[in-house]
Amino acid sequence: MSKTNISRRNVLRVGVATGVGFSMTTAYATETMKSVTPPQTSGPFYPIVAQSDKDADLTLFGNSTTLALGEIITVEGKVLGDDGKPIADAVVDIWQANAAGRYAHETDPNPAPLDANFQGWAILKTDADGRYRFKTVRPGAYPAAKGWDRPPHIHFKVSRRGYHEITTQMYFENEPLNDVDRLLNALTNKEQSTLIAKRDGSSGSFSFDIVLAVV
Ligand SMILES: [Fe+2]
Repeated sequence: MSKTNISRRNVLRVGVATGVGFSMTTAYATETMKSVTPPQTSGPFYPIVAQSDKDADLTLFGNSTTLALGEIITVEGKVLGDDGKPIADAVVDIWQANAAGRYAHETDPNPAPLDANFQGWAILKTDADGRYRFKTVRPGAYPAAKGWDRPPHIHFKVSRRGYHEITTQMYFENEPLNDVDRLLNALTNKEQSTLIAKRDGSSGSFSFDIVLAVV
């Protein structure tokens, strides 16, 4: 359940230096409270088979030097507390379908092909500034039920001692299936916008920040 967002009022103090004929204005901007990232289901395809390679490059798997199929992208962002402070050493656990929309999971019924060179799963840690970054391929859409194709998305589970764990999904801007997805559209427009990653104009990376509630 999302914690109610409370915006702290910025504090503006006006100091008047007496006797010297000028005034001095000092603004103290307190840290801004942030809305907690909306939770979403982890779905049925969280990896169940152990794998040793869970690093930040999902386009190369194990000892293979063959790239995964699909459009290579970078996703990066910050993990923050709802107090606005970055969270260092947060665990960012991600998993996704390959470019054809298939999970490397024994219960995925999608007949789309597996990609033996796609890592599909990574567990990362944020740096001292709360940042994470990984390279992957843009996941494909896949059928979830009759009349319902899931838009491309990446699953995230983010945790750190002292914060409430979040499981959610990241979507991509300009994907027509976003507009009709049953999970995404169960959220308010504002909540949806926090889960839809936008491509950064200069770096080309998709940007996705995650906000956890302080315990
Ligand atoms: Fe999924």
